[in-house]
Amino acid sequence: MKIEKELYAGKAKSVFTTDDPDLLILNFRDDTSAFDGKKVESLSRKGAVNNQFNAFIMQKLEAAGIKTHHEKLLSSNESVVKNLEMFPVECVVRNIAAGSICKRLGVEEGITLTPPTFEFFLKDDELGDPMINEYHIRSFGWAKDEHIEQMKTLTFQINDVLTQLFREAGLLLVDYKLEFGLFQGEVILGDEFTPDGCRLWDVETRKKLDKDRFRQGLGDVIEAYEEVATRLGIEFLGTFTK
Ligand code: TMP
Ligand code: ASP
Repeated sequence: MKIEKELYAGKAKSVFTTDDPDLLILNFRDDTSAFDGKKVESLSRKGAVNNQFNAFIMQKLEAAGIKTHHEKLLSSNESVVKNLEMFPVECVVRNIAAGSICKRLGVEEGITLTPPTFEFFLKDDELGDPMINEYHIRSFGWAKDEHIEQMKTLTFQINDVLTQLFREAGLLLVDYKLEFGLFQGEVILGDEFTPDGCRLWDVETRKKLDKDRFRQGLGDVIEAYEEVATRLGIEFLGTFTK
């Protein structure tokens, strides 16, 4: 398989086409962004840590019977993925209140949400990724009914798998964001699952071990990601070449 051209550069990843139209290469960069691109910094090792973190999580999800776009690691900071037709929506599940829901609804950070709650957001930085509902998705044709249902079902199935996985590593999965796409007519998990797109707290101390360290200027951002990875038993390949 050969890399062809850069298709798209996002805030933290670049996407390349290959000579196989069904496969893309994701390049995880060190760039770290928050607040819809308003705060940007390059953090050493982040690309490699997130690429391998993501591969580990995607493999765990596949083992639990959830289909993902992940095919294989290509290098320390690159992965081969299926070429999905992405829905322009983000699926968020919250097990514990934190972040935007606290501001929006005036609830205290740290409250357990029983049952966990679900929110859709529109993937649009210029608009600040506004929260949307299923009627918006249907009216604007962002996804069909059956695909909306599948995204919700899969997001909650993933919650069961990952809540337990992190709990065994002494971590609370507070919330997370997923993106899905279609591959040969099927809804498949795309994008990434890394500490950039979720909140993880130490179960005892509730220390933040995710991108909130960057958003809130708490320091030791990548050290925290590496601590989570170590607790999960992820072995980093270091810098290996193709
Ligand atoms: P929020 O509290 O900012 O709404 O985010 C909820 C969770 O989803 C949090 O773990 C961050 C993640 N998220 C993203 O990574 N990107 C996004 O664009 C959104 C809306 C949420
Ligand atoms: N809205 C998310 C954040 O604040 C994602 C992003 O803007 O990149 O980090």
